[in-house]
Amino acid sequence: MYDYTFRPDDVPVKKAVAWAAATGIHCVDEVALFPDPFPSRSIWCTVRCRYTEKRLAQVAQRGSLILVNHYPLRQDMAKLRRIPRFSIWCGTRRTQDWHRRFSVTAVVYGHLHIRASRVLDGVRFEEVSLGYPGQWQPARGIQPYLRQILPVGD
Ligand SMILES: [Fe+2]
Repeated sequence: MYDYTFRPDDVPVKKAVAWAAATGIHCVDEVALFPDPFPSRSIWCTVRCRYTEKRLAQVAQRGSLILVNHYPLRQDMAKLRRIPRFSIWCGTRRTQDWHRRFSVTAVVYGHLHIRASRVLDGVRFEEVSLGYPGQWQPARGIQPYLRQILPVGD
């Protein structure tokens, strides 16, 4: 989820949506994604993160993990060149260190529609979205869109 914390430090979280709107950036979630039964999307995000942190702490003891998440875990991986202020709808700072806190081999995510591969702190981060439909090139086949996560090193 997101909680509007992927913003500059000098933008108060309560003003983050207005900060984005000042450049014409809006997210349909603000009118179409209802957080019920939670009082807000931010609180929903907090509850969801706490639940997942608990689960990760349990399963990380069994071995290394592949984290699969819709959103990027880190703010520095939510850079949107054309619409930078859309970042507030792209994740939460709560997950910033999950790749170090838990035993993680790779993090697989999407949401940004910007395919990317990166290694940070020895952990692979793979943005594996397909891009937007207008960017798809069916003639290339499926192979260029696939990313091997395991086994590592191939
Ligand atoms: Fe998304």
